[in-house]
Amino acid sequence: MVTGAAGFIGSHLAHALVQAGAVVVGVDRRDPAADPTAAANLAALQRLPGYMHVTADLLNCAIEPLLVDANAVFHLAGIPGVRPSWGPKFSEYVASNLLATHRVMDAVTRMGVPRLVVASSSSVYGPTEDGPSAETDRPQPASPYAVTKLAEEQLCLAYSAQAHCPTTVVALRYFTVYGPRQRPDMFTHRALRAALTGQSLRLYGDGHQRRDFTYIDDAVIATIAAATIPTASGVINVGSGSSASLLEVINIANSLSGREIQVHQENPRSGDVLTTRADPSRAHEVLGWQPQVDLHSGMRAHMQALAAETAAYGHVA
Ligand code: NAD
Ligand code: UGA
Repeated sequence: MVTGAAGFIGSHLAHALVQAGAVVVGVDRRDPAADPTAAANLAALQRLPGYMHVTADLLNCAIEPLLVDANAVFHLAGIPGVRPSWGPKFSEYVASNLLATHRVMDAVTRMGVPRLVVASSSSVYGPTEDGPSAETDRPQPASPYAVTKLAEEQLCLAYSAQAHCPTTVVALRYFTVYGPRQRPDMFTHRALRAALTGQSLRLYGDGHQRRDFTYIDDAVIATIAAATIPTASGVINVGSGSSASLLEVINIANSLSGREIQVHQENPRSGDVLTTRADPSRAHEVLGWQPQVDLHSGMRAHMQALAAETAAYGHVA
């Protein structure tokens, strides 16, 4: 089962799992019949015979019937995004990232599912000088979102630490994932969209903030390894160990498009950290994972997908 299957990472993951021969039940509360982003994310997947999609909210749906014969659950459903988590939407973050996760863990352990992989976040580390952040570092979440992601991963791990718990949990701390179908609120998407359309780009701060950008296919490979490698458990970073600044992302977008993006600088946003950078040692040792796609190649693929979307739908989200 893949929760959050109509989302960015979940749809890529479900697709890769089906292509590898798995039968996948995808669950998401966004209805592809009513939500164009969900429909676009699921378009290729829903044509594959190994995939079954269920539109349901994990806060109130019956989860156990979806888990019959499941040998792994990938729990990616949640409310992402650092900046909007300060406002009144916080209750939605708590509901989907914590209360829904509680229901998932209850069902997964009662049904005896042997493995659960949960999507955690680099944001749990909070402000780091220049990293690298190791899984053993003390988390210092700097936004309400990051607090919910830390609580979410720890909730899953607490379940699995119970005596006789049948479920091993792997919590993946993804570092800013980008690539085709990336959420439209994220920076790489916005920079490439600005480069393609000529719209201006809002830059929060001076652009010297750095992220350990992770290409979607690399993130998916790590996620499948987290479910299939028998010895994997606990918290694992999914990031390369190198970072790039937002100004570098803008430069790559400029060079890929041959157009200079118009940048409007605004104040830095609360909760954003200056730098994220993973210590990837544990991912390498436990999962045998090493990212393959560099930022330039990944952004090229991302831009080609956005250009194709523009041609197909006449606009980019
Ligand atoms: P996304 O918004 O594209 O996908 C999340 C999906 O979860 C959405 O389709 C949403 O409808 C679904 N969902 C939310 N609450 C639900 C509920 N109660 N019941 C059923 N479905 C629900 O986000 P994404 O970027 O693909 O992120 C996936 C996960 O990875 C999230 O948990 C996010 O916190 C985490 N994460 C993402 C990144 C990143 O760079 N994208 C980095 C770190 C962690
Ligand atoms: C991303 C995801 O959005 C989170 O869901 C995820 O948990 C997190 O990665 C992670 O690694 O754990 P973030 O690093 O904030 O969070 O990624 P972006 O949303 O792409 O923002 C990156 C930087 O660009 C931030 O400094 C942000 O302020 C800036 N930004 C973003 C802009 O300057 N302009 C924009 O329009 C959007």
